[in-house]
Amino acid sequence: MHADFTGIAYLVAAICFIMALRGLSSPETARRGNAIGIAGMVIAIATTLADPGVVSFELIAAGVLIGGAVGTLIALRIQMTALPQLVAAFHSLVGLAAVAVATAAFYAPEAYGIGVVGDIKTASLVEMAIGTAVGAVTFTGSVVAFAKLQGLVSGAPLVFRGQHPLNAGLGVVLVALVVWLCLAEAPAAYWLIVILSLALGFLIIVPIGGADMPVVISMLNSYSGWAACGIGFTLSNTLLIITGALVGSSGAILSYIMCRGMNRSFFSVILGGFGVEGGQTAAANGDRHAKAGSAEDAAFVLKNASKVIVVPGYGMAVAQAQHALREMCDTLKGQGIDIAYAIHPVAGRMPGHMNVLLAEASVPYDEVFELEDINNEFAAADVAYVIGANDVTNPAAKTDPESPIFGMPILEVEKASTVLFVKRSLASGYAGVDNELFYRDNTMMLFDDAKKMTEEIVQSL
Ligand code: TAP
Repeated sequence: MHADFTGIAYLVAAICFIMALRGLSSPETARRGNAIGIAGMVIAIATTLADPGVVSFELIAAGVLIGGAVGTLIALRIQMTALPQLVAAFHSLVGLAAVAVATAAFYAPEAYGIGVVGDIKTASLVEMAIGTAVGAVTFTGSVVAFAKLQGLVSGAPLVFRGQHPLNAGLGVVLVALVVWLCLAEAPAAYWLIVILSLALGFLIIVPIGGADMPVVISMLNSYSGWAACGIGFTLSNTLLIITGALVGSSGAILSYIMCRGMNRSFFSVILGGFGVEGGQTAAANGDRHAKAGSAEDAAFVLKNASKVIVVPGYGMAVAQAQHALREMCDTLKGQGIDIAYAIHPVAGRMPGHMNVLLAEASVPYDEVFELEDINNEFAAADVAYVIGANDVTNPAAKTDPESPIFGMPILEVEKASTVLFVKRSLASGYAGVDNELFYRDNTMMLFDDAKKMTEEIVQSL
């Protein structure tokens, strides 16, 4: 195929990918974004297959058939809650592919037009070394992330003395090996880069607690993009370079957004040791008293409201209460009550967690608002219905400079006339911090599983 046509087709595909990312930035346009992304991928694959350099269609067809079948099967069977580990598993394959391509290029450089064995262009050696290193780190890092999320190994941070100096030391040795490879083109240097990078990927991820995994997943997503970008340079494929860079930068931006939403630095996540899974019982309650209510009490309060704001959190996901919640809101809307959903950027345990669950329950998009668009509305609301959320409402983030969540923006539910908290106990959330809202006069605790309590409220309504 003419090189100009290939270039134009790749450009169109790249524009499709950028538009796909744009579409995916909002639930309303996400489906269209996906469709545009698929169209871009079809253009990219068709253009690549039309390249005269393709020597065996049989092997490609076999790969597409086997890979496609396995991918379809997994996608059909996967539970929504297991998506993070699936993403980690897929990232590991991208990392492995980067190592495989770089190895092939190292041993058969003439096939890639980058020189001959023993005389590979220096620029290509640098690309190869970086691609291999990033790919190998991505591979073992993703495998560890998968094992932690799947419960195959403990999700607790594995920390030992001298861990960070060891990682830094390995990083320095890695740079020295890249220089050696470029100067001497020694296979030993190449394989040492692979081995050291595999070890580094393992060591970087083991100290990170299971609860911090969402940030790690998006970071590995970013690495896998840069690894693909590296393969693009080795293969002289502009589309792979662009696509890899898009994935790499969007993963990095997502990690940054998550860290900002938690008001934590990226390095504090990477250095590990934060967050608890399963919550902790609140520290000394002193003589504070939390007012508990029943489903009937809650139904009475809700029925008499004219504006209700729902704040979903991790507990709603655990209880799978989104369908019962929508039923409750539909009932209230039927009684002329104004309903809005307030979404905190890090509510739940993965980006967009709440949006996905609400969309699954067919909650209309125009009732769902981001933190900055709804926070001023709480003062005018009669009820804030906080279902399985905790940290994202905790005023300690504003008032207690010693608190680990200090500085995190929160949903100001306490400004509503009444706050209903649906959760099973007074236990803390992910950050392990007591929430003094539970003990306020305008708060009513509804102690139960979120789904069960919401269903009972529906019955009482
Ligand atoms: P959390 O603060 O973790 O609170 C969730 C609450 O849900 C818990 O206090 C728990 O209380 C309750 N709960 C658990 N199972 C329940 C069930 N079956 N029924 C009813 N309630 C249940 O959640 P949040 O407010 O959504 O905040 C998210 C936290 O995760 C933030 O600290 C955030 O920084 C962190 N984080 C988020 C992300 C992303 S990207 N979203 C990534 C990493 C970390 P009981 O045990 O008393 O029921």
